[in-house]
Amino acid sequence: MSVRILNENEIDKMRIAGKLAASVLNMIGEHVKAGVSTETLDQICHAFIVNDLSCIPAPLNYRNGSSPPFPKSICTSVNHVVCHGIPSDRKVLKRGDILNIDITVIKDGFHGDTSKMFAVGEPSALARRLINVTQECLYLGIQQVRPGARLGDIGHAIQTYAEKSRFSVVREFCGHGINDRFHDEPMVLHYGNPGEGVELQPGMTFTIEPMINAGKRHIRMLADEWTVVTRDHRLSAQWEHTILVTEDGFEILTLREEETIH
Ligand code: MF3
Ligand code: CO
Ligand code: CO
Repeated sequence: MSVRILNENEIDKMRIAGKLAASVLNMIGEHVKAGVSTETLDQICHAFIVNDLSCIPAPLNYRNGSSPPFPKSICTSVNHVVCHGIPSDRKVLKRGDILNIDITVIKDGFHGDTSKMFAVGEPSALARRLINVTQECLYLGIQQVRPGARLGDIGHAIQTYAEKSRFSVVREFCGHGINDRFHDEPMVLHYGNPGEGVELQPGMTFTIEPMINAGKRHIRMLADEWTVVTRDHRLSAQWEHTILVTEDGFEILTLREEETIH
């Protein structure tokens, strides 16, 4: 297995793609409200990505393994949907829902991949805690990133905090190398042991995107071959950033202004 080291020119393109992906999450926030369908959110994001950003929405017609091509431009994963929810006019948001919106754009051949959680109205105390713990898991994972650290350090930090919070870590999906390929090596597991796995080097770019469940970690794939749900139908949350390994640590390529982590 080999992990790409990007040159300065490629890194600059990743920076641009990352910023553009982040801008989609900033844009869509005001549209997330009760009565809006996830299909409408997809249409708004698609138009913004294509017309305003002059980017390609990477999910649209994306193929992975034997699944049919993904039919929409973003993923919208509501409540017990873990990831890869397909926007639909039959899925209308209601007060108390929580959802992940996952954006991947391609600019000048390079990808920016990022997601965040939204709440519709006031979420339950459990939903709020799950959202906050999952974001903290992402940040704790990111803070492990520096040359010489290993991928297992990231997974261990995430797993430890999630399980200490009495939540569980989804095992079947992981972060990934990202560059001019959407999903490249390495696999970035959200569980594991410190000191194990690939050693990080400056110029590596990958996502960290923990999926954390309120109940058990087990999942089920729906018949559409994309939508992943919790087996016990309890809530799931996810946050994602695209990360660059720098000489002295990390750079979050998809950072939003609202975030305070450094
Ligand atoms: N954006 C997702 C990720 O973080 C992948 C979505 S693939 C799709 O890796 F086809 F479902 F869009
Ligand atoms: Co990703
Ligand atoms: Co993503």
